[in-house]
Amino acid sequence: MSTQDSNVLIATSRAFQRVGSLSELRSGKPVGAIVEGKEVAVFAVDEEFIATAGICPHADGPLHEGEVEGRLLTCPWHGWQFNLDSGICEDDPCLTLARYEVRIEGDDILVRV
Ligand code: FES
Repeated sequence: MSTQDSNVLIATSRAFQRVGSLSELRSGKPVGAIVEGKEVAVFAVDEEFIATAGICPHADGPLHEGEVEGRLLTCPWHGWQFNLDSGICEDDPCLTLARYEVRIEGDDILVRV
């Protein structure tokens, strides 16, 4: 790995890991998993797959149990909402969900954190 700009962070060498099946995700239920010790949640939104931190930054709610409407995720515990495109919390813009890379291979959902 190298870069010409020391302010640019180059992608990690971590591997993608399987977190679930595409058929499970397409059934409408988000997928939750642990990757490299981090809880992640994966959502199917408009034929796109989005992986975020799996734990709500408000009070640790399980985001894979949240509801998605449009591109907004609602935490199941206290109803705070997160924009899945930016990760920014609509209720407290100081809070942002980490987003992770997603790859689909056959029926496998793979995430790299
Ligand atoms: S834990 Fe998610 S809104 Fe409170």
